[in-house]
Amino acid sequence: MPKKLSPPKAQLESLKAEISRHDFLYYTKDAPEITDGEYDALFNKLLEIEKSYPELVTLDSPSQRVGGAVLEEFSKLAHRQPMLSLQNSYSIEDIDAFEERARKELKDLAPATFEFFCEPKFDGLAVELVYEAGRLTKAITRGDGLVGEDVTSNIRTIPSVPLKLHSLSRSNSVSEVPELLEVRGEIVMLKDDFRKLNETQVENGEAAFANPRNAAAGSIRQLDPKIAASRPLVLFSYAPGAIEGLKIKSQSEFETTIQGFGLPIAGVSPKDESFEEFKKRIRDSLKKKSRTLGLARIGLGAVEAKLYYDFIQEIRSLLPFDIDGVVIKINDYRLQEDLGFVARSPRWATAAKFPPEQAETILETIEIQVGRTGALTPVAVLKPVKVGGVTITNATLHNQAEIDRKDLRLGDTVVIQRAGDVIPEIVRSRPEKRKPGSMAFTMSPLCPSCGSMAVKPDDEAVLRCVNSSCPAILKGSLKHFVARRAMNVEGLGDKLIDAFVDAGLVRRPSDLYTLTTAKILGLERQGEKSAQNLIDSLEASKKTTLARLIYALGIRHVGETTAKSLASYFAHSEAFLAASEEALLAVPDIGKTMAASISAAIQDGSLRSEIARLNELGVVVDQPKKNEASSNALGGKKYVITGTLPLGRDEVKDLIEANGGIVLSGVSKKTDFLLAGEEAGSKIQKASDLGVEVIDWVAFQKQLAATDS
Ligand code: IVH
Repeated sequence: MPKKLSPPKAQLESLKAEISRHDFLYYTKDAPEITDGEYDALFNKLLEIEKSYPELVTLDSPSQRVGGAVLEEFSKLAHRQPMLSLQNSYSIEDIDAFEERARKELKDLAPATFEFFCEPKFDGLAVELVYEAGRLTKAITRGDGLVGEDVTSNIRTIPSVPLKLHSLSRSNSVSEVPELLEVRGEIVMLKDDFRKLNETQVENGEAAFANPRNAAAGSIRQLDPKIAASRPLVLFSYAPGAIEGLKIKSQSEFETTIQGFGLPIAGVSPKDESFEEFKKRIRDSLKKKSRTLGLARIGLGAVEAKLYYDFIQEIRSLLPFDIDGVVIKINDYRLQEDLGFVARSPRWATAAKFPPEQAETILETIEIQVGRTGALTPVAVLKPVKVGGVTITNATLHNQAEIDRKDLRLGDTVVIQRAGDVIPEIVRSRPEKRKPGSMAFTMSPLCPSCGSMAVKPDDEAVLRCVNSSCPAILKGSLKHFVARRAMNVEGLGDKLIDAFVDAGLVRRPSDLYTLTTAKILGLERQGEKSAQNLIDSLEASKKTTLARLIYALGIRHVGETTAKSLASYFAHSEAFLAASEEALLAVPDIGKTMAASISAAIQDGSLRSEIARLNELGVVVDQPKKNEASSNALGGKKYVITGTLPLGRDEVKDLIEANGGIVLSGVSKKTDFLLAGEEAGSKIQKASDLGVEVIDWVAFQKQLAATDS
């Protein structure tokens, strides 16, 4: 163990605050102040200190977002205040009726016009976050409204959920966080992230999610927090639960206040903003593809609320996330209190849902697309039809099994749906409208790009082209290689990549770094300025991180998170390229399938030669410092780990091994210690039956420190 140089605790606290500020700027504000590299450096520093001082690891540390121990089941937790739902209406006239009812109920107390707080109705999974003394202590699903499930360990992994509230609310006099703050909101998956996740699911031969809501809800319902950690989820907060130590007078004040605490909201509109200004602002931010939209609006009465409803419906498909209507709330909390509840819904709010977006059209043909992993994906080509204001011309069909299940035939009349999302899907066909003689559709086993015979791996639902020089695979790989989260080559779009491949200028990713302005100018429609810009951004992309490089190379099953684990474990590309399948299995988060896939990629010489060539062409990676806290403090003692510990299971295992201990999976007579965390199960009984000593985290820290002086 390291010597105690400076007070690590103070250093950790300031690092944690700094990292969480950058998380907030990046995920919630969409306005990062530092580069990914600088962020990674801060994070690595944090990990380094925590590794040396595991006793200082707290649950509010950003390092804990990776996901801790696997749960056996979710425990039940009661809500301090019932989590109610809203009355739904499907017609815009209901907004008048809603105002009317509120007026009747309030009688003389009713104002001349209500001030309505209008915001989108998010289509995700509702959760309640409990902050005690500013720290996230629990996250609970709605459940039956009274009792929900404890999904804290999954919610913790969501980067935009603050683990500790910021005390930077400047909008009012609040500077201290309240004793208790319960915030309700929706966990959603952004549409772009959903699309990417589904691509990966399909590439990996796993089932695609039907829509972003299912993907978000499915991720939170997983017992293994690592799964939630690997899924791109975001939070939008919109309602208070119990609050102690803070007085709030209106919904708009609530949202501005919690935003000040670092919680993401859909946003309130600036005061005195006219409806025209509001629309212009939203349109402009959508053009910039910003996700932090001041999408809520405070307006007067049903007339404004209806304008809001129409406008949001109009821009719905352009929003980065799914919504299924708008929620209209009476802004003033005094009036809300006066109105109270009827049955399980408040009288002070209503959900005006958008009509379902379905339509019928003709399935003209089915085309096969080839992805970067060679997966052949059938895509339905539809007779163009408008659904919810957007013209739909195609829909993904995922794989042959899906075509069979839905019994889709060419020429069929099909029902398509946008489920609030831009990705349309075929819900079903209408066989009763089918012309006689139609036949079931079977995908050709030939790759439509290179004509070679595709194969169907036993354990997968997809057909794959395995021709290593297939142009479609190359194009897909290059698009992945240059992507923002990979090598981040700006200004290299899909069309240009296709042109490079078709012209034979690029045959593998490293060829991109051999491009010259002269070569680019040889292509059609390329100007000198844009050619130079591309050369500049290729040059800029050369300085990268090992994690980005590994991710960019597109090894099967290796997503961004895995690439990061590999990079921080191996630190150097040579060490990574030398790793055996066994060594790979020792990397946190890497299971059998992944290890086999990575090992196969390493064995196949092309990955190695590609990395070597990239290096020759000037691609360099920052070398993060690796901190191996090694000692022999545990002197070969055998440990079994159980329950929830402050560090993830794999980290604890690493820590034991790095200090000379051995980790076993089951308790037996040979076990020296059972290291038991919270909610430890049956192993405790077994240990005491066998006379094995049970120790907790604190006792374990003492063992680690024992020979460290
Ligand atoms: S306010 C008393 N605001 O839709 C309930 N809910 O049944 C106050 N939802 O339960 C809820 N977006 O899960 C509110 N902007 C929003 C919302 C929203 C989505 C969900 C929430 C609610 C359900 C309606």
